[in-house]
Amino acid sequence: MVNVTLCGANGKMGRVCTDLISGRDDCQVISGVDLVTERNSDFPVFANISQLPQKPDVIIDFTHPSGLNALLDYCISTGTPAVIATTGFSSEQIEQIKKASEQVPIFFSFNMSLGINLLASLAKSAAKVLGGQFDIEILEKHHNQKIDAPSGTAIMLADAINETLDNKYHYVYDRHSQRMKREKYEIGMHSVRGGTIVGEHDIFFAGRDEVITLSHSAASKEVFAVGAVNAAVFLAKKQPGLYDMSSMLSEG
Ligand SMILES: NC(=O)c1ccc[n+]([C@@H]2O[C@H](COP(=O)([O-])OP(=O)(O)OC[C@H]3O[C@@H](n4cnc5c(N)ncnc54)[C@H](O)[C@@H]3O)[C@@H](O)[C@H]2O)c1
Repeated sequence: MVNVTLCGANGKMGRVCTDLISGRDDCQVISGVDLVTERNSDFPVFANISQLPQKPDVIIDFTHPSGLNALLDYCISTGTPAVIATTGFSSEQIEQIKKASEQVPIFFSFNMSLGINLLASLAKSAAKVLGGQFDIEILEKHHNQKIDAPSGTAIMLADAINETLDNKYHYVYDRHSQRMKREKYEIGMHSVRGGTIVGEHDIFFAGRDEVITLSHSAASKEVFAVGAVNAAVFLAKKQPGLYDMSSMLSEG
């Protein structure tokens, strides 16, 4: 049985993870950390990670970039692995996460859904064949509460494609401000915001008289929770290092 501490236990993703873990028999939540501690749970919730009375086998973090220092300090000082699912980190913070992974196991992904990670891998395969010949555009759609655009996942997909194509491409976010034809080595990034859309991503490879579209649609937040909880069970047994969904998929 893997003992989990949920950082962000009282947030939207924290609650979905709690419900999901309660139905599994390979892991259990022993504690939570959240700025909001009032809600009733089957486990105690602490305002600060340093207050945890018992070291967990693994931490799942769905909070906010402002909590990163406290999280990494705890993980390093106690040797606790962490699944970091929070998004919106600065490049300096991402470096901090990478550095910490030299001392403790860390699983880090902008998108915990298995389907999105498969989409990234399919997009890389398509880019190997079509890159330089087909125009590449990414369209993402999210609910009307989302603040950032384009989504971290859209950037992750564009980066996956660009790495495959020797980072020759640049990203174009706004065609409104310029009147000119698209360039060959650009990836157009487009965002739609509305209603309660959980998350949709389409990658278009548009060639002469043919278009290939790779699509993923998330119907609920549970897809991210499933990925994060699977990652936690996977990570609890690992040596220090930086892990992501591809590490988990390659081990079957
Ligand atoms: N990687 C993925 O697949 C994925 C999927 C969904 C959401 N996310 C990310 O997870 C994060 C949380 O998403 P959410 O929808 O649950 O948000 P939310 O606002 O509903 O929940 C965040 C919770 O974290 C708590 N919190 C904030 N700062 C904290 C801190 N410093 N210490 C302790 N607790 C703190 C808040 O009180 C809140 O309860 C966001 O960054 C979101 O983008 C990632």
